[in-house]
Amino acid sequence: MRLHVADHPLVAHKLTVLRNKDTASPTFRLLVDELVTLLAYEATREVHTEPYRITTPVTETVGVKIADPRPLVVPILRAGLGMLEGMTRLLPTAEVGFLGMQRDETTLEAITYANRLPEDLSGRQCFLLDPMLATGGTLVAAIDYLFGLGARDVTAVCLLAAPEGLKVLEAAVGDRVDVKVVVAAVDERLDENAYIVPGLGDAGDRLYGVV
Ligand code: URA
Repeated sequence: MRLHVADHPLVAHKLTVLRNKDTASPTFRLLVDELVTLLAYEATREVHTEPYRITTPVTETVGVKIADPRPLVVPILRAGLGMLEGMTRLLPTAEVGFLGMQRDETTLEAITYANRLPEDLSGRQCFLLDPMLATGGTLVAAIDYLFGLGARDVTAVCLLAAPEGLKVLEAAVGDRVDVKVVVAAVDERLDENAYIVPGLGDAGDRLYGVV
């Protein structure tokens, strides 16, 4: 697994506002959107391209275009949905699939409750969106699922990660280079309820309100 932690003052600034418990949902949503666009720039560094011949007003030249099959962006419901716009802003031609995963609050294990994905992901680059890499259970299950459908590589885009969750992910995927994690920051630890500390609280609730 390869880990990239965004090291940029704008990322740190926006993350600080997100962490503040007094930041209300509308501002929170806007900042998540902006942060993800910044993370998407890094996450798409290895997006597959192919040569593309064009004519400029001056001459013919060969540029590049996003290769087929198109990348697949997969927000993990519900909180990952708040990251979708920010990601597709940089990758407007990507296809979008959905994975509904929830952690069982007693066992803390990931349960899949919805799946809207192509049946065959052969050769596809996949970008998983999940704001909080906490225990790692959800991400391990989602990555496993995408590779099971034939995905070529998986990049997870997260706002925050806990060291405990990164360890779980590392143990599950080892040193395979086709798994990458891009995060805005790695926090201190998980608390007894598996919340990231200092964290930002429940990302879904902060995005959409408590249900
Ligand atoms: N999920 C969240 O939304 N927040 C955490 O801190 C951990 C998991």
